[in-house]
This record gives sequence, C-alpha cells and structure tokens, in this order.
Amino acid sequence: MKIIVLGSAAGGGFPQWNCNCRNCAGLRAGTLAATPRTQSSIAVSGNGTDWLLINASPDILAQVRATAALQPARASRDSGIAAVMLMDAQVDHVTGLLMLREGRRLPLYCTTSVWNDLNTSLPLARVLSHYCGVDWHELQLIGDGPGMRAMQAPGIGDIRLTPVALSSKAPPYSRHRMYPCAGDNIGVLIEDIGSGKSVFYAPGLGMIEPQVEAAMRHADCLLVDGTFWSADEMIVAGFSKKSAADMGHLPQSGEGGMIATLDGLGTREKARRKILIHINNTNPILDDDSPERAQLARHGIEVAFDGMEIDL
Ligand code: MLT
Ligand code: MN
Ligand code: ZN
Repeated sequence: MKIIVLGSAAGGGFPQWNCNCRNCAGLRAGTLAATPRTQSSIAVSGNGTDWLLINASPDILAQVRATAALQPARASRDSGIAAVMLMDAQVDHVTGLLMLREGRRLPLYCTTSVWNDLNTSLPLARVLSHYCGVDWHELQLIGDGPGMRAMQAPGIGDIRLTPVALSSKAPPYSRHRMYPCAGDNIGVLIEDIGSGKSVFYAPGLGMIEPQVEAAMRHADCLLVDGTFWSADEMIVAGFSKKSAADMGHLPQSGEGGMIATLDGLGTREKARRKILIHINNTNPILDDDSPERAQLARHGIEVAFDGMEIDL
C-alpha cells in the first residue's frame, strides 16, 4: 500500500496567513531552514489508482494539484479520490469537503458524532446535498468501550481499516466540545491485507490510552500527533490561553510526552517508523536546524512533510 502525506501542518498551515511567530516570519523572510506545509490530510491506496482521502483539508485543491497520483484522468471528469474518511469534525479536517462538490456522489466514512456536527453546527453535509451529495457510512463503535469495527476499504485495493476511538477534543463549535463522547475523535489502523504491514494514523491525540498503545505497538509505521512541542506553547507565545491538553494534543516534550511514549514502545519486535504529523506553525521542530529537531533525530523520530510517500 501507499500513503501520501498531502498536508502535514495543523490548522492554519505553515506559514499561517496572519502569524508572525519566529517560524512563520522566518519562513517568509527566507531566514529559517524550513518548508511550507499545508493543512492536515493523507491519502491511502492499495492499488495506486484509487485513493481514500483521510481528512478533507481546506487546502485540498492545492494538494490535488500537487499530487499527480490523485488525477488518473480516466474520463473527461475524474478523480483518484474514491472516498473520504474523517478523524474528527475539526475545521482543518472537514472544510475541504465543500471543494469536492463538483465531483461524483461522495462516499463519506465518519462516526455518528462527527456526522451529527456536519448536519447541525457546521452543516456541510446539508450544503453538499445541493451539489454532489454525500453517502454516509457510519464508523461504528462496539458497545460502550473504545472498540470500533474494522472494515474493508472502499474500492482502493486490499486494505483493512480499523478505527480507534481516542481522547482528543471535538471542535470549539461542536456541541460535544464540553461534553465529549466516544467517536468525537478517532485514529485509524490501516493494514495492507496482502503484506500484513500497517500504519497507525492519529493526527489529534490527547492521551495514550490502552487501545491507542495497542494500535501503536501493532503498527509498522506511526503517523501521530506532532502539533506542539511543549504543553504551554500557545500560551508562552501569547497566542492563546489554551494549553496543548485543552486543545486535545499531547506535546512532544516532557514527562509522558510523545517522545517518551514513542521511546517506551521499544524497537525490539520491529523497526518501526515513527513520524510526527499535524504540526502547528509555532512548533520549533519545523526549523530543520533547531535543537528540538536534533533531539527528535536522536530518538529516531521523523517529521512529516507535504508530499512524503510511505510504501508498505
Ligand atoms: C487542532 O487540531 O487543534 C486544530 O488544528 C485547531 C484548528 O483547526 O484551528
Ligand atoms: Mn487540527
Ligand atoms: Zn506562526
């Protein structure tokens, strides 16, 4: 199977349009060793022609233009995007749906709680019913726990997808923001049925719960939350009163942070690739020459970039 990172940045992208933090200003001025990044999305295919878009970023049109594989041109109007799956209902993960309105009826895979947000507080599904229309396929929780039903991927080759319910945050506009419910946020274990190889993708990950740790241990490659380096990054920068935890993200540094978590998985059973994705523009790891980036390298942790391809 093949995975293409379409957008490796968190909400706002890098550089963010109105931001003059060290990273954004440095990138614009050409004084920072860094690469621009679009907002959060990946594409997965088992056959190299038909793709599942996981998250629909507001930057989707630029991402499609930059990715020849998504444009097989088999008909006068055509797209390699066979279906869309959503990890949550965050603005940076869903608003690109509107940009797909000229296409065929869109198969959309998401949980009930995300589907509810898209039909109430941010009614994109209702808007799209006047254009291409959306066919909702529910990603199902099993019972009251975090377990979710595995599914065969929709027409993209021999790939099994196992959603993993996890704790992060519903969007600020959501009715669930203060009243979290299972299915507000998920990750997904993506397995190539032929080779048995797998990737765990979780761009918003607030806590390492047992089902998350199990998915991480199982996977050959991790594409996990790289939003913030430190717990108070946005507060120290003066941009927000919210901590990483308030926003549903586990920072990389500190006790119990993502670096310690990834170290704790061990590398005995497999040479697991560990890649951070959904990186906020304030995060010092975006500076290729930063000590934080060097620290990641010492721990064998990579930083995703737009156009990164993973073959498994
Ligand atoms: C988040 O995941 O917290 C978002 O990137 C925030 C946003 O979209 O503004
Ligand atoms: Mn986000
Ligand atoms: Zn910035």
